Amino acid sequence: MSAVLAERTVAPNVRPNTSIAIVLLGTGVVGGALLKLLNTPAAASVRLVGAANSRRQQTDPTSLASRSLREQLNHQGDTRDNAGLLAALDASGAAVRVIVDATASAPLASRHAEWLARGYHVVTANKALAGGELTGWRALQAAVAHGGRYGDSATVGAGLPVLSTLRRLRSCGDALLTLEGVFSGSLSWLFNQYDGSRPFSELLREARQLGYTEPDPRSDLSGEDVARKLLIIARNAGFSLGTDEVDVQGLVPEPLRALDTESFLARLEELDAPLAKLHAEAKSRGCVLRFLARLNQRGRARVGLVEVPLSHPAARLYGTDNQFALTTTRYNTQPLVIQGPGAGPEVTAQALLGDVLALA
Ligand SMILES: NC(=O)c1ccc[n+]([C@@H]2O[C@H](COP(=O)([O-])OP(=O)(O)OC[C@H]3O[C@@H](n4cnc5c(N)ncnc54)[C@H](OP(=O)(O)O)[C@@H]3O)[C@@H](O)[C@H]2O)c1
Repeated sequence: MSAVLAERTVAPNVRPNTSIAIVLLGTGVVGGALLKLLNTPAAASVRLVGAANSRRQQTDPTSLASRSLREQLNHQGDTRDNAGLLAALDASGAAVRVIVDATASAPLASRHAEWLARGYHVVTANKALAGGELTGWRALQAAVAHGGRYGDSATVGAGLPVLSTLRRLRSCGDALLTLEGVFSGSLSWLFNQYDGSRPFSELLREARQLGYTEPDPRSDLSGEDVARKLLIIARNAGFSLGTDEVDVQGLVPEPLRALDTESFLARLEELDAPLAKLHAEAKSRGCVLRFLARLNQRGRARVGLVEVPLSHPAARLYGTDNQFALTTTRYNTQPLVIQGPGAGPEVTAQALLGDVLALA
């Protein structure tokens, strides 16, 4: 069968009786997984009316229905223009019009509040607004107060029920007192594996090959992504923290920070000696190293590598698990612990779809 015929076997995306229309920004790892989910019965009420990567976009129903849409967007489609995508949402006639942001673009995130104010809903895996500057967070809160709905499940723990649980507790009058956990799948894997038997650089290269880190692992090692997640949870719990109020102790030594990616990858061994020393010290005290995010009762937020005893919940993590330990006014003798895979395209895309379906 020809490729063209194979594409036509996909159910057309024109479903007049559907009530939710979406445009998808970002057709990378997560956006690609969402496109697959949109072709399953679970998404029968959802109609894709536009999709874009950073360079091109598509609003033609036949192209949108193609299983090779993601690849097509690399060389076909209109030039990027948000107005064209919003026009496609308006023309859909759907009762619920949703912009799904599966990018990490700060310029796009800075439009979320405006889109909400204009009557669109926004569902996002992009942390740049809610985990960015406090002014952006406040603009978002103002837009949400006027009726726009913001689906943010995918921004923390790749959809583990952290933010939804926190909101539910708050709606019952409970309040977050402290928060502690491992919020990065790649850093979780690295320190779950790191027992001193292999140099850290060797593990890091393996994690990169397995796709657990970003192509430039400094994005993970810097702790900035963890800090954004901590800000999102803290702000949702009522702590109006600014980005400068999170003390981030990253793992990239100063001389390696300004290098291009290739040069950094060639010097990974420079991470080994300092981490081996910390590991040996921790081991001598019966502890292990974990890259923790912590928020205390006074709103002090910290991100960095710490020693924890073997009895600590974070000492018993597996693979790329994330862990969120919440102490609240009602969960105050033992924390409420949410744990599980905190990365991965399928679960993240599922969190996006779940937020879209919840809008109907
Ligand atoms: N991967 C995970 O497991 C995971 C888990 C939880 C959350 N997230 C979050 O999900 C988001 C996407 O992650 P990913 O792994 O899918 O990244 P990715 O593979 O790098 O994909 C990013 C996509 O965004 C597109 N893009 C960038 N700027 C754009 C713009 N202005 N307009 C439209 N599209 C634009 C890129 O287009 P080009 O192809 O043209 O560059 C690309 O298609 C990130 O915010 C990430 O932090 C990811």
